[in-house]
Amino acid sequence: AFRARTGATTTADPDAGHGGAAYARSVPSVNPMPKSFLPDAGLVFDMLLKRDKFVPHPGGLSSLFFAFADLVIHSCFNTRPTDYTINDSSSYLDLSPLYGSSQKQVDSIRVKDGFGKIYNDTFADARLLMMPPSVCSLLIIFGRNHNYVAQKIYEINENGTYRDPKTQSDAEKAAQDEEIFQRSRLVNSGYFMKVILGDYVGAILGLVRDGSAWRLDPLATMRELDHEFAPQGEGNVCSVEFNLMYRWHASTSQPDEHWTQAAFKRIFGDKDPGTITVEDFKNGAKGYLRPTGAPNTWSIFADATRDANGRYSDAVLAKYLQDATASPASAFKARGTPEVLRVIEMMGIEQARSWGTCSLNEFRKFMGLKPYSTFREWNPDPEIAKAAEVLYHDIENLELHVGLQAEEAKKPMPGAGLCPGYTISRAILADAVCLTRGDRFLTVDFTPFNLTSWGYQDCQPNKNDGSFGGFLTKLLFRHLPEYYPAGSAWAHFPFMVPETMKKDIAKGMVNDYTWTRPVPKRLTVVSQKPIVELVLDSRAHFEPAADLRVLQLTKSVRPARDAVRPYLACLLYVLLKEDRVKKAADFFYATAKELIQERSLGHAKSRVRSIDVVRDVINLVPMQWIADQVAGISLKTPQNPRGVFTPWELYKKYSNVADFVYVNESPVNVFTLQQQGQKTAEEFADVVQENLKQTGSIFSVSPIYALTHFFTASNDTSRDFLSALLSAGRGQSPAELAAGVFAEVVATAALWSKAVASIVDGCITGDRRDRLAKLARENPPDADAQMLVIIREVICACSIRLPAPRATLTMVRKLAECSGPPAGDEGAAPRQVEARAQRPESPRRGR
Ligand code: HEM
Repeated sequence: AFRARTGATTTADPDAGHGGAAYARSVPSVNPMPKSFLPDAGLVFDMLLKRDKFVPHPGGLSSLFFAFADLVIHSCFNTRPTDYTINDSSSYLDLSPLYGSSQKQVDSIRVKDGFGKIYNDTFADARLLMMPPSVCSLLIIFGRNHNYVAQKIYEINENGTYRDPKTQSDAEKAAQDEEIFQRSRLVNSGYFMKVILGDYVGAILGLVRDGSAWRLDPLATMRELDHEFAPQGEGNVCSVEFNLMYRWHASTSQPDEHWTQAAFKRIFGDKDPGTITVEDFKNGAKGYLRPTGAPNTWSIFADATRDANGRYSDAVLAKYLQDATASPASAFKARGTPEVLRVIEMMGIEQARSWGTCSLNEFRKFMGLKPYSTFREWNPDPEIAKAAEVLYHDIENLELHVGLQAEEAKKPMPGAGLCPGYTISRAILADAVCLTRGDRFLTVDFTPFNLTSWGYQDCQPNKNDGSFGGFLTKLLFRHLPEYYPAGSAWAHFPFMVPETMKKDIAKGMVNDYTWTRPVPKRLTVVSQKPIVELVLDSRAHFEPAADLRVLQLTKSVRPARDAVRPYLACLLYVLLKEDRVKKAADFFYATAKELIQERSLGHAKSRVRSIDVVRDVINLVPMQWIADQVAGISLKTPQNPRGVFTPWELYKKYSNVADFVYVNESPVNVFTLQQQGQKTAEEFADVVQENLKQTGSIFSVSPIYALTHFFTASNDTSRDFLSALLSAGRGQSPAELAAGVFAEVVATAALWSKAVASIVDGCITGDRRDRLAKLARENPPDADAQMLVIIREVICACSIRLPAPRATLTMVRKLAECSGPPAGDEGAAPRQVEARAQRPESPRRGR
């Protein structure tokens, strides 16, 4: 169930919309308009379409938006030069500019070595070579994403069927390559689709500009009024009207206009663009549109070359993309198309006539719109209306292509971001629905089964990631990480000119982003031990990134680390001192035991019990410790139903904080993690500050506190810790103390769990498992001491493997040393339990 090379996808009619089929027609024309009666195409261009002056796009759309639009139109239109009735592209958004529309084209970009990849920075459709560099750069990013996805699918090996191609026969290798290639293509086309719905349609409707993450979802399963399912995946055939509607040459930015002039100069020499004929173009463009050599040898950019692996440098791609984000597109308007595109527009007009296309008014009637009765109604600019009247005499004769492109443009307003003429704006959404909803692979076959579970999830947008529903951000972060840092408006809103977007975004959000053009960070990697130690010890020069991130969460409140650090050290010292050891160990032991008893399940007719020890014990013990012994958070448990958070909710919140502060692997999730982390920090600070105030107060408890206390069944068991904190941190405000505790305890809690999970994992791996089982069976007097030996062995291994801060490991070690069962308690339950611990990779694992 994969996409056929020609794009035919539907199960109902396998041929519908395949590449190489005829265009459809939506509106039969009954307006008698013989070709001989129509004005000369060049004259139409000069009077109605030729750009008089550049007007920046009123909705703040960048030129990169139209670069993406260019990929969209190349995906579904490729009018055959020798027969205008044929569309050589499929009628689906299947990324055919990248993959090609014929088997020959698809084969030309595939490596076919068993890994399902395509050649580096290579695409199949040579027409793109005639497009500005931002268009090709965007396509290359999608190409890189294909290879990223293929690599992941191979590595995850979901069904366990992939093998190292070196060990395979030729037939096996070919089959494996085909499967990975096709699955990756489905995922990558899914990406393309999500960028279309998220960034592109979002910008068309002005949603990105207006800060809304709501999106039109034409792919959703829905029912008609009669309760029947609205059709999905039943196919689509692009129409000639849609082709004409999409010729947005008026949107060309000034840098793209200059680029096109230079490209035309290379093809046509000094010939005035105003005099290039259709014949000239067909002859001259051949070299561009039919390059010799394999696609991976094409020279895509005039001023950049490939490296030995066939890749262009990230710097080159980022420059083209960011130049395009910085350049305002042109407003849609009559007399808006650069003169250099005159011959292209003339070809469009001729093609439309050869198709016998309907008039603008016939099209409007088809769309349910009122037909125009005068030229002035169509475009109130008297000069434009008059020019059109001179050319066409009667509004009923106004041709569709020209009528659409020179119609008065819409003004930006809620729901209007693209701002073309009204007829285009109305028709484009209807067509977008057919194009996407008709595609079987974007609807009924868009499943984890076809895309793999990872692939399916990887192309699902996160509406809270700071891009207001946009999705291109993820690709930019992923493939150009040095050039698109976390929090950059250039990554979050690449289709909007940053300067304009900054004015449009809600005031309260401006500071959530950096607005200046990203400057690439040059990383210096040090690996020699003495230098690494020097760097780690020079905190004044190399402030740990984790510290800075904690400050971002606690906003302006500088954590009172200096107050808390010695105190925590002293707390550990106190806790671990003779008489207090028992108390601390009791808490961990009792909590773990309680959780094991509560959460383990018995097997039928057996004494064996099963438990997810990471999710249900290890992750929760520190949460309960923080809630009960440190902060005084009221946990929602069966015994305390009025609590505020369940232990799992708390774990989720605190593991997000740890992910943000310490793991922070990819900028893709940074925005969401930071927002969630700030909320968690605020909640934590509110509780701790209030409890600190009440603990330190010599007066009676405040009425509001008492009321909250009643409703949430507040937790007083942390008073011991909090009063000690108050005296240790004398001189610090409650806000500073709370921020300090957050930094030291909350941010590391999930790492603590991760460390313990790793220890448990190590304890049940290999011969250690047998040694522990023997200890449990025989229970010798020095069982605890022997267990500690095993745990220390594992810790040694963990400290190499884990990215946990040193303090956490120290704490783990110390608590491991003191958390044996209290004397006199045989603790039978834990020893009967069959523990299933997964090897944790991040603090989130095991939930
Ligand atoms: C500077 C940027 C652009 C250049 C240099 C350019 C150039 C061209 C060329 C050379 C053709 C082929 C003409 C033919 O063989 O019939 C064409 C066709 C077309 N262009 Fe553009 N174009 C640009 C931007 C755009 C944009 C932004 C859009 C709309 C999103 C667009 C929409 C179309 C459409 C729909 C066709 C007809 C395709 C077909 O029927 O095969 N173009 N353009």
